[in-house]
Amino acid sequence: MIATLSNKKKNRLPQVLEHASGDKRFKILEAHIKKHQFKQDALIEVLHKAQELFGYLEDDLLLFVAYRLKLPTSRVYGVATFYHFFTLKPKGKHTCVVCMGTACYVRGADKVLAAVEDKTGIKAGETTPDGEISLLTARCIGACGIAPAAVYDGTVTPRQTPDLALEKLKGWMGHGN
Ligand code: FES
Repeated sequence: MIATLSNKKKNRLPQVLEHASGDKRFKILEAHIKKHQFKQDALIEVLHKAQELFGYLEDDLLLFVAYRLKLPTSRVYGVATFYHFFTLKPKGKHTCVVCMGTACYVRGADKVLAAVEDKTGIKAGETTPDGEISLLTARCIGACGIAPAAVYDGTVTPRQTPDLALEKLKGWMGHGN
């Protein structure tokens, strides 16, 4: 499959960079890119790191990587869609990413994930049949100081417990189910 970003999305770059400036995960990713000396052949490595940090590769993230590595977005998008180990933005209306990195894990991230899986009836990497919620995991989202952390629709949220996570899902699942 040959997939490309639409021109409309490519024109999002200024907003993406502004968004990136306030998100610690982008800073960590940037440091990783720097470690690879901005080399274009580090693309796969960089995408791995991006997925670890964000749980999946959304369009903004791909644009950011393309910009920093000075690669055409079509190339970055092509690589991200070609390899099965990369996950593009899931199709759920809402996304919940539970960080399962060490700091979060030792503070109970596994219980948070189990509660979410139980409530939604899906496993990490899946989307509810009604298309409402996609559940993913990440490996350290750069917020260890507020562990266990989760990201709801792009917002990093601190000190999660099963109850707090379920409360969040309630609003997404409609009618408080
Ligand atoms: S391990 Fe979860 S934020 Fe670092």
